[in-house]
Amino acid sequence: MADEQTERDDGGGVATANETLSVTDNRTGESYDVPIEDGTVKAMDFRQIKVDDDDFGLMTYDPAFTNTASVRSAVCYIDGEAGVLEYRGYPIEELCERSSYLEVAYLLIYGELPTQEQLDEWIFEITHHTFVHENIKKFVEGFRYDAHPMGMLLATVGALSTFYPDASNIDDEMERHMAAVRLIAKMPTLAAFAYRHNLGLPYVYPDNDLSYPGNFLSMMFKMTEVQYEPDPRLERALDVLWILHADHEQNCSTNAVRGVGSSQVDPYSAVAAGVPALYRPLHGGANEQVLRMLGRIGTVDNIPEFLERVKNRDEKLMGFGHRVYKNYDPRAQIIKEHVDNVFEVTGKNPKLDIATELEKRALDDEYFIERKLYPNVDFYSGLIYEALNLPPDMFTVMFAIPRTSGWLAQWLEMVMDPETKIARPRQIYTGAREQAYVPIDNREKGSEKPVAETNLIDPTRR
Ligand code: CMC
Repeated sequence: MADEQTERDDGGGVATANETLSVTDNRTGESYDVPIEDGTVKAMDFRQIKVDDDDFGLMTYDPAFTNTASVRSAVCYIDGEAGVLEYRGYPIEELCERSSYLEVAYLLIYGELPTQEQLDEWIFEITHHTFVHENIKKFVEGFRYDAHPMGMLLATVGALSTFYPDASNIDDEMERHMAAVRLIAKMPTLAAFAYRHNLGLPYVYPDNDLSYPGNFLSMMFKMTEVQYEPDPRLERALDVLWILHADHEQNCSTNAVRGVGSSQVDPYSAVAAGVPALYRPLHGGANEQVLRMLGRIGTVDNIPEFLERVKNRDEKLMGFGHRVYKNYDPRAQIIKEHVDNVFEVTGKNPKLDIATELEKRALDDEYFIERKLYPNVDFYSGLIYEALNLPPDMFTVMFAIPRTSGWLAQWLEMVMDPETKIARPRQIYTGAREQAYVPIDNREKGSEKPVAETNLIDPTRR
């Protein structure tokens, strides 16, 4: 059994002698040995477990992948219990302190930190691909004045695939490289165009004399000045925020990119699938909801009543909790340290006091302690974005810009992985079988027939 331990021949540590799981099927009395590798068993190894020859075989059921590894990945490491996050083995704290976002994007995509020469070349390439085709501008102009910028981003990223049809040659290394460069380079441009569109302001073209975050600030906020000069403290804060958001292993949007990409679609279309997955409150949209929540709470005095509503399940404490972290999200810790630097330039956001007190009270409360709910990356990021004068609608876009490098790193890994097959889960079928087809004139009126349990929409209400 797995707890029998022996020394390895090479003296490299202790290994279990019998890395298998013994399973007895009590329906048949048959026993099976299933190999254990890297702390996992293969779901396909259970297919051999059958009650008779006609049986399809045992499947595993895990609707939200809560205990299922869907890939082998060397991009991002998280230890949720200890609150550890590493990209390619480098601790997030050190990357935030010593690297730039573009250096980290290189690390994620190419697997190792660049030399100075490689970094210079990478920055040059990214800088020289920030422009988008003029038709993209016309495309953005077609949106209503109040279109949500994430909706516009989703459409424009998807549209890029039509401008670069050769990118569908995903076996071509150069095409893969160019798609990575173009997507990382153009994402800030698309984001800034969406923002300016909402305001009815003319679009600002990229400025090659500025840094990656500096150019973004220019495309967002430049007015009549000849040369926009970003405040270096804001540039750095933005760069750090983008490092923190660059990757986070198999989250909902990365899973969407990999799932769509597994059909061998081009990388623009695969990355476009990540945008809507990130959009809403349970994932990247939480930063927008945190700000709205702090606005609703209004003053520190209202916090106890708000927390009661959360505990009664009338509300969620947005920016708290995580599927993987059962400890303080290390990204939230780093953001918190940068909040003051930003407020030094922009003036303090009055919602900071509410957020700080809310965090303190929640962390002292049995409900949150018992469930190991801590602030996540989204709890403080919105305060910085608001201080930068961004409307809440733009917050999730600010997440999508840097997550593009993570999506691409994971997509590249998927394309190169010999184990990759089209993602196609199984299901437990719960619907009817062998129904007798009734001609339309003989069918019962909707109101007389009970609505099938599995129907989410009651047809009688229409
Ligand atoms: N406020 C109140 N209760 C919560 C919260 C919260 N934010 N998060 C989880 N819980 C409770 C939940 O009700 C459940 O309680 P019980 O066991 O009594 O039913 C328990 O904690 C476990 O939660 P869960 O919903 O089963 O956990 P999950 O892993 O399915 O969901 C989550 C993770 C992030 C979706 C969830 O914690 C949540 O909705 N948080 C608020 C939204 C948010 O901040 N999202 C950003 C995530 S970090 C950025 C990113 O990478 O996307």
